[in-house]
Amino acid sequence: MPKITISNANLEYICEDDTLARAALREGLGFPYECNVGSCGNCRFELQSGEVVHLRANPPGLNERDIARNRYLGCQAQPKGDCTIKVNLRDHYKSQHLPRKTEAELAGIDDLTHDIKEFRFNLKKSNLFLPGQYALLSLPGVEGARAYSMSNVTNLGDEWHFQIKRVPGGEATTSLFDKIKLGDTITIDGPYGMAYLREDAPRDILCLAGGSGLSPMISIARGAAASPALQGRNIEFIYGGRSPKDICGEGILSTLEGYGSRIHYHPAISMPEGAEGWTGHTGFVHDIAEMLFGANLPNFEVYFAGPPAMSQAVMKMLITAKVPVGQLHFDQFY
Ligand SMILES: Cc1cc2nc3c(=O)[nH]c(=O)nc-3n(C[C@H](O)[C@H](O)[C@H](O)COP(=O)(O)OP(=O)(O)OC[C@H]3O[C@@H](n4cnc5c(N)ncnc54)[C@H](O)[C@@H]3O)c2cc1C
Ligand code: FES
Repeated sequence: MPKITISNANLEYICEDDTLARAALREGLGFPYECNVGSCGNCRFELQSGEVVHLRANPPGLNERDIARNRYLGCQAQPKGDCTIKVNLRDHYKSQHLPRKTEAELAGIDDLTHDIKEFRFNLKKSNLFLPGQYALLSLPGVEGARAYSMSNVTNLGDEWHFQIKRVPGGEATTSLFDKIKLGDTITIDGPYGMAYLREDAPRDILCLAGGSGLSPMISIARGAAASPALQGRNIEFIYGGRSPKDICGEGILSTLEGYGSRIHYHPAISMPEGAEGWTGHTGFVHDIAEMLFGANLPNFEVYFAGPPAMSQAVMKMLITAKVPVGQLHFDQFY
């Protein structure tokens, strides 16, 4: 059982059959991370003694300079024996519900659009999560686990739902959309992620989603609608796609108490050509948010998710609009 010593924090933990970051998070330690798939680089640590191997070869989150300085990625590195590392732990990364791995059975699939489906799994061992968090799904025949955000809210932790957009030629989404069947079992590891619903934030809520970012924003809206602490708050939900066939979400939101009074849905398409009869907005999600809420943006707690280009444009717009960074919550998708 490999023992990991964090030299600058003067503490030790065991990491068996796991990555250094995930084993630490399961122990309640605040090991820094974001994507969990080797892409963002947030989980970098310095290896001072011992040996590790990366699960993902040449992960994009590590550059030549990092490699020269003996740095590795906590979300990808597995120890080959006892190791001593240097990493700055932060309470911000501690999980309220400790992540763990469990088998999960596919219990239901629904079409949301031509390329987004909802997959519902029953977990063999229940675990709770916060609205907006994500899990790692290990799928048969797919190298490396993929991150997907939950779309539901849970009191029991036995059902986790995911709204997933097909990526043409993508390994994991091809497996999910074309191969696995109802009753099949996969491994789910979670919850992870810091872009969860802040029930103690005394502000109205703005959810911004594009394409694959639907799932965590639906979970945030569901959680906020049900939260006694947030009953007086408005929830503004902007969802963007290219054309009307990409748009969904209203059917789900309209089942929430307060829909139409304190919960509002604003669909937007970016390619209006040929979209006769479209009555929603036209433009990119960040532009629609700016147009609708302008000088009022700093009064919102803002959650956003979607493809990297959308998230970057949203972030830039919100910073320019002087929304305090502590009110912005997102986990970058890769
Ligand atoms: C925090 C987070 C939450 C996400 N939530 C959602 C969601 O709710 N809905 C949704 O549709 N999508 C979500 N995604 C995107 C999703 O994880 C996949 O990137 C996407 O579905 C494409 O996967 P693919 O295997 O089909 O495509 P591919 O093109 O085969 O793979 C694309 C991605 O998989 C990862 N990857 C590739 N090889 C490996 C490997 N060996 N080990 C680990 N990772 C590897 C890389 O990040 C790469 O960008 C999320 C991503 C992140 C980081
Ligand atoms: S690279 Fe490890 S958390 Fe993103």
